[in-house]
Parts: sequence; structure tokens; C-alpha cells
Amino acid sequence: MCKVARVRGIEIAYDDVGAGPPVVMLHGFPFNRTLWREQGEALAVSHRLITPDLRGHGATTVTDGTVTMEMMAEDVAALLHELKIKRAVLGGLSMGGYVALAFYRLFPERVRALILADTRSQADTDEARETREKSARQALREGMSVIEAAMLPKLLAPATLAERSDIVTRVREMILGTKPEGAAAALRGMAERRDQTELLAEIDAPTLIVVGAEDAITPVKDAETMRAKISGSRMKVIERAGHVSNIEEPAEFNRALEEFLRGLPSGEETHA
Ligand code: MLT
Repeated sequence: MCKVARVRGIEIAYDDVGAGPPVVMLHGFPFNRTLWREQGEALAVSHRLITPDLRGHGATTVTDGTVTMEMMAEDVAALLHELKIKRAVLGGLSMGGYVALAFYRLFPERVRALILADTRSQADTDEARETREKSARQALREGMSVIEAAMLPKLLAPATLAERSDIVTRVREMILGTKPEGAAAALRGMAERRDQTELLAEIDAPTLIVVGAEDAITPVKDAETMRAKISGSRMKVIERAGHVSNIEEPAEFNRALEEFLRGLPSGEETHA
């Protein structure tokens, strides 16, 4: 059963499993907190894993219009405040990574370490912005099946698509389970997002960058850009995985995550 926090005039649904230093993981678009199922199973023995549904996704309130990365970051900050967590390891996949970077810009002192998975620091190109607006309108008009048809072939590595029907079904169901209004608002928010490349040089939290070797949406070169600019960051390329590397190759992903978390300097993480 998921938990619900009432903050900032909305209800945020989240899972909260395990005990230990808090780790918050933010899902990509247009997914939900169940993206992190395998990470919950692996991390809960040593950490407290908090996985919210971002605004407009899963069981969290949908708000129309444009939902910016900063709005989602403020939602996460309010959730952490509600849970009396002062500092946490913060990770995100793809859109979740855009939100994690926005969170770091707003609240650097609250980030103990960063995990940036299958994401990028750059803003959208003009062409990508136009495509997002078209997709937002289509989703509102025709429903999520148009988004699913456009995204699915790009989300997963070719071998995952051909041979792993369980993963294909799971990803498809997450997409089709997202409400068109929530997806449209997030698409418009991603189109508006700022370029965060300048921020990278200011990041002094330990940072792990993870990317699927076959990620067609945020390719390895985007991860390399972040690695080059974030001082002391380390990078893990996951073979045989596409854009959803944490569920395509969960064992490799979890190994990288666990090794990174084990190596973090210990520190005070929560309010009393
Ligand atoms: C995601 O997985 O969150 C999206 O593909 C990100 C994007 O469209 O830029």
C-alpha cells in the first residue's frame, strides 16, 4: 500500500521501504514510482528508499497546464520536509534526473549525493519543444496510446524489445496508466526546462552517473558530458540496456548503486 502526503495543495503518493540513510529516487516520464521496484528490493536491507509519484503521474494529483521541473522539485522538498528528512541521497531517471538537477540548484544543502540515470543536463532544442507540444495535444485529444506508440520503440534496447515481453508489458502499462492531463503538463514542463549544464561545475555532492549503453533518448555522450563537468563524478555504462536501464538490467544497475552508496562518507541525514 502506498502512502500519501498532503503538501502544497496536492496529494503525493509514495512508497517508503527499508531503514537506514534515506535515498529518494524519482521516476522518468511518463512512468510512476513502480519503476523502482527492483531497487526497493535491493536497497531496503541497508537504506530507506522513498519513491514518490511525481505530480501528474501515478496516484499523485494531476494539475493541468505546465508542470515545471522546479514545481516537481519543490513537491519533493515538501515531501521530505513532511517526512522530517533534512538531507538525502537524491536520484532520478531521465525526467527524474531533470528534477534532481533542479532540486540540487534550489536546495544543494539537502542533497547528500546525486544519482543521475539515463538523463541529461541540456535543455530541449526548438525542434524537440515543438514535438513535445504536438505530443501534449495528441495525448489530450487521443489518450496515452499515441505516446506509447511513439515512445516504446525508443525506450528499450532492441534486444529488450524483441525478447523481454515482461519488461515491454510493464513499461507499456506504466505509460498507458498515466493520465493524459498529467503527461501533457509534464511534456510542457520538460519543453520549458532550463539548460542545467552550467550547474554541473558547481555540484560538489558525490555523483554517480548511470546510462544504458543503448540508450537512444539520452545517449552515452550526454552522460559523458555530465561526467566531464561534475568534479569527482563516476560513471557506469550498463551493457545491453536502453533508456530504462534500471529495469532492463536491474542487477548491474543495483550493483553500481550499492557500491556508490557504500562508498559515501557518513553524515547526519535526518532531523531528530
Ligand atoms: C523520460 O524518460 O523521462 C523522458 O523520455 C525524458 C524526455 O523525454 O526528455
